[in-house]
Amino acid sequence: MGSTTAAVNAAIIIGAVLLFSSLHIDAGASLTDVDNCGKSHHKCPPAPPHSERTCKHGKCNTECKRGWLDCDRKKANGCEVNVETDVKNCGSCDNVCPVPLSNHGSGEATCTNGVCGYTLTCEKDHADCDADPSNGCEIDLVGELYSTIENCGSCGNVCPASTNETAFAICDAGKCSLLCKFFGGFLGVLDCDNDMSNFCETNGRTDVNNCGGCGNVCLPPPAGQGELACNDGVCTGNCVKGRYEDCDGVASNGCEAELMWDTDNCGSCGLVCPSAPNATPICDYRGCRISCNDGYSDCDGVASNGCEIHGVCPNA
Ligand SMILES: *[C@@H]1O[C@H](CO)[C@@H](O)[C@H](O)[C@H]1NC(C)=O
Repeated sequence: MGSTTAAVNAAIIIGAVLLFSSLHIDAGASLTDVDNCGKSHHKCPPAPPHSERTCKHGKCNTECKRGWLDCDRKKANGCEVNVETDVKNCGSCDNVCPVPLSNHGSGEATCTNGVCGYTLTCEKDHADCDADPSNGCEIDLVGELYSTIENCGSCGNVCPASTNETAFAICDAGKCSLLCKFFGGFLGVLDCDNDMSNFCETNGRTDVNNCGGCGNVCLPPPAGQGELACNDGVCTGNCVKGRYEDCDGVASNGCEAELMWDTDNCGSCGLVCPSAPNATPICDYRGCRISCNDGYSDCDGVASNGCEIHGVCPNA
């Protein structure tokens, strides 16, 4: 008996609590319940696409679902834009994600979770090292010897500076390397042993066996005509200046012109002593003269009219 009474009492208590709470809910629902909104207990109408009904302060309204926005401000089509993924409205209306520049590559703008990004596929040996879509694949990883030194073969691969004064650091076809330094128009120092561990060990300006280039051996001049030398990378230093000259430019005959006595190269290459009447031109100690033929004399001392007198000079 006692237990039955207890159960009835419990049921009464539970019923009272339920009644009280339902009354309480009903009282609040008129302000926020979309199915029973406001004083007139209005059932809010269906929401347009990608939006949901709201009841606030007893008034029906709609609100975009998370990730969607009503960019065209037309109620009927609801919140038509997915701002999580739309590259023209990324994160917010009219936020257009930039398309990467087609510069040695191509790609597209992306919008992920409302944040702009891009995809970019670069051509071989080009890269987008600065992660800036506006200049596309701006780096040529194997391009010019010096310009790619900061991004040699891959982004951010900086070639270490040379530790020796004879060589520069370069990026050669995407690999860090060293290049012998220039002096004037040619490589003044050379890597003739093809071993850069000792850098550019050969001085191409003065080495007679590597004069102006590896293996470029200066030919020794004929005896007495000069000395074997390489000057500024040219084998012309082997002629004794002012005495012998390589006037024909043929290396094998060395310094073939003897400027003291050569009537075709008298004093300098190509200076030909002129012929004159009754005379033979000669080159005498780097100067042109004439030598009278037998029986003739040059009495006026003028070379151009040759030996103008037949016989001896009158006043001789
Ligand atoms: C640089 O390399 C050259 C050629 O091998 C060498 O003669 C020279 O001593 C080196 N200089 C330094 C500072 O190591």
